[in-house]
Formats: sequence, structure tokens, C-alpha cells
Amino acid sequence: MAQDRFETVILGAGAAGLMCAAYAGANGGRVLVIDHAKAAGEKIRISGGGRCNFTNMYAAPANFLSANPHFAKSALARYTQWDFVDLVARHGIAYHEKTLGQLFCDDTAKDIIRMLLDEMAKVGAELRLHTSVTEVAKADTGFTLTLSNGQTVKAQNVVVATGGKSIPKMGATGFGYQIAEQFDHAITETRPALVPLTFGDTFKPLAGVATPTRASCNGTAFDEALLFTHRGLSGPAILQISSFWREGDAILLNLFPDSDPYETLRQRRAEAGRKSIATVLAEMLPNRLASFTSDRLALTGNLADYSDAKLQDIARELTAWQLTPAGSEGYRTAEVTLGGVDTAGLNSKTMESKSVPGLYFIGEVVDVTGWLGGYNFQWAWSSGVAAGTAI
Ligand code: FDA
Repeated sequence: MAQDRFETVILGAGAAGLMCAAYAGANGGRVLVIDHAKAAGEKIRISGGGRCNFTNMYAAPANFLSANPHFAKSALARYTQWDFVDLVARHGIAYHEKTLGQLFCDDTAKDIIRMLLDEMAKVGAELRLHTSVTEVAKADTGFTLTLSNGQTVKAQNVVVATGGKSIPKMGATGFGYQIAEQFDHAITETRPALVPLTFGDTFKPLAGVATPTRASCNGTAFDEALLFTHRGLSGPAILQISSFWREGDAILLNLFPDSDPYETLRQRRAEAGRKSIATVLAEMLPNRLASFTSDRLALTGNLADYSDAKLQDIARELTAWQLTPAGSEGYRTAEVTLGGVDTAGLNSKTMESKSVPGLYFIGEVVDVTGWLGGYNFQWAWSSGVAAGTAI
């Protein structure tokens, strides 16, 4: 079989791999991106409900989880959200801020994929889809890769951009971790993150109800929407807090993050003490949640029957509702994988392995995980550029 020679082979045509190819190719060397999927950037395509939340105006190192919280700083500083916004604007892609600094395409996430493929084409980087790599071996100089069709390719540099384990149905594999282990890189514990939490049938009657919440766990809190589902809890507040939750931990929900329900209940008692407490709760919460809460706290009778102390007890239950999830929905629906290739083995400026020259890890496969809200793509762009410019 014929052997191809490349300066750089990038494994994975996702967000990080495509971005890296556009920069690595700019240095003049021959670049090949390999992916086993039928199309490039499949996760970009489905992201943000099809509109891709491609970055966040407020992205900062504090929005990322990693065993080494300092690791992401250099790459994020050298290719910022504003650099990506410039690129998007140069390609004439219309975008808007949805909420909390989250930037989305006005039309479709496919605009971002097209932009990245255009950038790659400009520098002559090649793309091979429907192709898997079965082996990566260190050669005297560089690497030899064996492809699923039996062909081998030679590369001076190999960039691992195969992403995390989330949504295996979309082509996620543990291949990147396998390569890391093969070259003696440590892997920090991986687990599903930005994922709904399960509670058996508890919340079935509330499925579809959404309400603003402050969700807290292990010292971190997020003020965002809570969504009840057939299987448990979801919505941005829960997805965010899931990254901080561990099996057996309780989460705390404050259903009144912006007001004091004790004051509201006292005021309503003064104004309309003859109203049933269930009716008053339904003025304060979505109907189904109000009736669920009345049942849960066994509330009956009129507001006037409740002393200040009792109203305080109710308010406490509404602002510090403690719940222990049975589990999470796992990689089937998780948006990202927490943990990954240990950053201790990587150069934070270049993403290159400290022990294997020419081997790079970028994007989600690395132990850097963003909050919900465009941060994970920003890490893909920043780490992709870091490796691409270093090559
Ligand atoms: P990514 O997963 O994008 O790419 C990896 C590529 O490697 C894939 O193309 C895969 O096919 C390929 N691959 C894997 N194994 C291989 C093998 N063995 N051989 C060959 N190829 C292989 N983030 C955000 O910031 N804003 C958002 O709006 C969203 N929305 C969102 C929605 C959903 C439903 C999900 C699942 C995820 C998001 N995310 C997100 C997260 C975001 O998609 C994710 O963090 C990035 O895509 C990670 O980029 P990578 O390039 O590292 O991996």
C-alpha cells in the first residue's frame, strides 16, 4: 500500500481538530484531518439547538474545571472569545447574545462548520472522513499511523482531537484516552458532565414544568432555569451543577433566588388571610409545582392558620429544598466529559506532550471542562489554535 507523508495528522474533525488544522496548515506543512464520522463537526451541527452557542462574552479561566485550574489560562488568553467573534464576523455570520453572554448563530450552526472548512481549505489542509486510525506508532522520526483501510501514513506531528465520551451514538469513542495511555500519559477520572440528574419517578407529575432556581452543590451555585422531566431534573441550572455533583451528594434548590418567600407569604396573609395556602402558593410558583409542594409539605387550610414560625418553615423548604439524585443520565445525554488527559503531562502553551515530542492533545479529550454556555467550544478553539500555531 502507498504511504502518505504529512507534517501533521489531526485525529478528529470536531471543533478543536478543524480549528487546529486551519492554523497548522498556515505554517506551510501538509496537514491531514482524519475522522471516522460521515461529516465533519457533527457536534457543532447539533449544538445550541442547531444554532451553536459558539463562545461566551465573559469566558475566563474561572469558568473551567480541571485538576489544574491554571492550565487553561495561557491558551484562553492567547486566543480569546473576541478572536473567535472576529473570525465569525469576517465570514459574515450573523449572531446574537441569547443570555448571560452566550453567543449563538442567528441562522444555523452549519455556518460555523462551513467557516472552519473554508479556513482549512485556504491553507490546503486535507480532510478524510469515514476513516479510522487503528494504530499510532512512534517511528524514528515522527509517527506511523495505520488506517482502517490498511493504508499507513507518516506524520511529524500527531494531534489528538477525538473529543470526550459523551453521546456515543454520534461517534464519540475513548480512542484519545487510549492513545494517551499508550504513550504513558495519565488520565484523570472521566465522568459525564452537563447532564440531567435522575430521581426515578419522583417528578413524573411535574414533567415539562420550568422555573427559575438557584441550584447548589459542594459550595458552587448557579442561578438559571430548572426543568422537571419524566426521569428527574434538567435545565441549565441542573446541567451546570451536575459538573460539581458526585454520587451520594445532595443538591440544594432555592425556588426563589430573587425574592424572600417568607416575606411574600406574610404579606399575602395580611392582605388575604382567608385564601387557602395552596392558592397562594399557585400565585408564587407554576401551578403543578405549587400543588406538588402543597402535597409534599402536607399544607392544608387558610393562610391565616399559619403562624410566622410555620411560614418560616415553609419558606425554608422552598429556598433550601434538599434532594439526593439517584444518578445521572450518563454519557447518553451528557454534553461533555469531565476529566481526561492529565494536564500535568502537557505544555500549557502548546498542548504538546512533555514526554513525547510531536504528540499533542486538544479540546475535550484534555482534562479541561467548561461550564454550560459556549465555554466548551471556546476551549476547543483556544487549545486548537495553541497547538496549531506551535506546530
Ligand atoms: P468533538 O466531539 O467536537 O470532535 C471529536 C471528533 O473526533 C468527532 O468528529 C468524532 O467523530 C471524532 N472521533 C472520535 N473518535 C474517533 C476515532 N476513533 N477515529 C476517528 N475519529 C474519531 N459546547 C458549547 O460550547 N456550546 C454549545 O452550544 C454546545 N452544545 C452541545 C450540545 C450537545 C448535544 C453536545 C453533545 C455537546 C455540546 N457542546 C457545546 C459541547 C461541545 O460540542 C464539545 O465540547 C466540543 O465539540 C468538543 O470539541 P472537540 O473537537 O474536542 O470534540
